[in-house]
Amino acid sequence: MARYSRIIGWGMYVPERVLTNDELSRMVDTSDEWIRTRTGIRERRIVDKPAETTATLAERAARAALDKAGIPPTALDMVIVSTSSPEHLFPATACIVQDAIGATNAGAYDLSAACSGFVYALAMAHGLIVSEQADTVMVIGAETLSRLVNWQDRNTCVLFGDGAGAVILQVSDTPGGVLATVLGSDGSGAHLLSLPAGGSRKPPSLETIRNGDHYIHMDGKAVFRFATRVMAEATREVVEKAGLSLEDIALIIPHQANIRIIESSVVRQLRFPWERVFVNLDRYGNTSTASIPIALTEAVEAGKLRPGDYAVLVGFGAGLTWAAALIQWGPEAPPVTWWQRMWWHVLWYRWSRLRSLYRRVRRRFFALYFRGREQVEQWTFTREPSPDGRGKDRTDQK
Ligand code: ACO
Repeated sequence: MARYSRIIGWGMYVPERVLTNDELSRMVDTSDEWIRTRTGIRERRIVDKPAETTATLAERAARAALDKAGIPPTALDMVIVSTSSPEHLFPATACIVQDAIGATNAGAYDLSAACSGFVYALAMAHGLIVSEQADTVMVIGAETLSRLVNWQDRNTCVLFGDGAGAVILQVSDTPGGVLATVLGSDGSGAHLLSLPAGGSRKPPSLETIRNGDHYIHMDGKAVFRFATRVMAEATREVVEKAGLSLEDIALIIPHQANIRIIESSVVRQLRFPWERVFVNLDRYGNTSTASIPIALTEAVEAGKLRPGDYAVLVGFGAGLTWAAALIQWGPEAPPVTWWQRMWWHVLWYRWSRLRSLYRRVRRRFFALYFRGREQVEQWTFTREPSPDGRGKDRTDQK
């Protein structure tokens, strides 16, 4: 049987706090007019509670995608989280999400390819499915870049927002789903967009903090030039790879970084009609790897993608990286019934939290038990002298 990977679920989540351009203009030397005309962004969402993190945004998007797909979390074989703002360097944010949603049969890992990451992750999920290593894979793009930008640097702080989007890919014998992917990188441009400190090259220190190396650094102009070139090239390449032409494409969903990048690459270079390009960056800013799945979810909810339609997802980002995927939409799963939703939300997700708590407590209990046993053994060792007077060997005690 031929194996295809189809998108059966999608969902998004953005934090409630809206940060407008006017608010930003009170924080740095900028204006609503400059931000709107140079980027197209009017407002963005940012996390404003310590408990809101990349994993919690990812969890909400994941639950929405599961609801849409009408499958339980236990059906997932793999959870991939693409992010540049993970909870920690390790463990993977994906493992935290896997535990939170109760995907007890799934492997989990993070993928780092900056704003191209979601399309990279989609390609990995597709590969796992067609190579028979998995049947159902959750792909999440999630970011809290607001925690990594310097709110005094007007070159970067006006651009980014927080959010998460997720899709579920499932094996199918009907042609469709992910039809072609193009993944590229050029590490010679690594310095153009980076977070210099916090990794093994520049571990955090007083000096890195003093220099602001724990914030995002970017050469905006160079990234802009690179982005306009690769977005057009990658789109052309992926369409050709799928054996289609641009006329066949119902919708292009580009990475939502800057309206001028989208206009220059998709509209001017490819001569693609503006009405068939999906844009929502005015409301969310650049949510990095989350931008494409958030836009995809909104496009589907707005009825811009119908079963059978072809769409291109195309992104670029730090690395430098770029990625494009050509997908054929649908068919959509039947709507989830209220009792299924209730079962998962009220029972399964609560049960998952309880199970996680139980495992933590059990681990703590065994740690204490073994530590206690070791202490007793040590005590026995020192208190019970062996015939030679040097203490009793552990093996002697068995
Ligand atoms: N408000 C007011 N003025 C500003 C601001 C601001 N927020 N930011 C820069 N300026 C000033 C500059 O200082 C400069 O002033 P000067 O001429 O006196 O030196 C002037 O505006 C023009 O600056 P440019 O850098 O030429 O502005 P540009 O038109 O290139 O726009 C921008 C800057 C928006 C950053 C653009 O270059 C861009 O979008 N680049 C791509 C960035 C991007 O997409 N990054 C994300 C990649 S994805 C990922 O992996 C996370």
